[in-house]
Amino acid sequence: MTDMPGLFITFEGPEGSGKSTQLRLLAATLTQRGLAVVATREPGGTRIGNAIRSLLLDPAHTELSPRAETLLFQAARAQIVDEVIRPALAAGEVVLCDRYADSTLAYQGYGHGQALTSLQQLGDYATGGLTPALTIYLDIDVCAGLERKRAGAAEEWNRMENHALAFHQRVRSGYLALAAAAPARWLVIDAAQPIAAIHAQIMTRVAQLIENQA
Ligand code: TYD
Repeated sequence: MTDMPGLFITFEGPEGSGKSTQLRLLAATLTQRGLAVVATREPGGTRIGNAIRSLLLDPAHTELSPRAETLLFQAARAQIVDEVIRPALAAGEVVLCDRYADSTLAYQGYGHGQALTSLQQLGDYATGGLTPALTIYLDIDVCAGLERKRAGAAEEWNRMENHALAFHQRVRSGYLALAAAAPARWLVIDAAQPIAAIHAQIMTRVAQLIENQA
């Protein structure tokens, strides 16, 4: 939990789970209700983070070592936490972030088999211990998700998605294990449902959180 006045919510999911669509809808609904909302994403969200993002996601960078990859994700995270997330929370705003520290545990940990304890320590260092109040996990069958993504814009296809199907399956199982280990923080949603139904489930939970904070 954060000790700051704002509300920090993250979105997680395998490729093609519809996170970004749901984040936009949630941001729009909360803004309509008069809340100050900051919507951002990882890796990216800052000038430094976007430069790191290009390094990370360029399909030409096939030689990137898994440890270097982890540190780059964490560096982008440290920057967005310091430059965007903490200041917004301190100002009492709602921060919605498309991916956060759990992505590293799922992709670099469960996906690439790096030690979860080391990743956890690095994540704590990068975030200064800032944990979301709520993590919305959109669960989707890996093949269906990759199919959705492939059908989308070609420039959306990045280095991570080129990994084998088995990698993405480990990522998904990893997410489900993380969610099961901390059910109070995670809201698991079946992302095969219609967009409006998913948004309604998210709003129910977020409205409760806001009420409890008031
Ligand atoms: P992006 O195009 O933002 O994909 P998505 O729409 O799925 O979020 O690319 C981000 C990619 O980086 C995605 O494949 C997940 C991966 N990733 C990690 O492997 N580790 C991390 O810590 C983060 C934040 C992302």
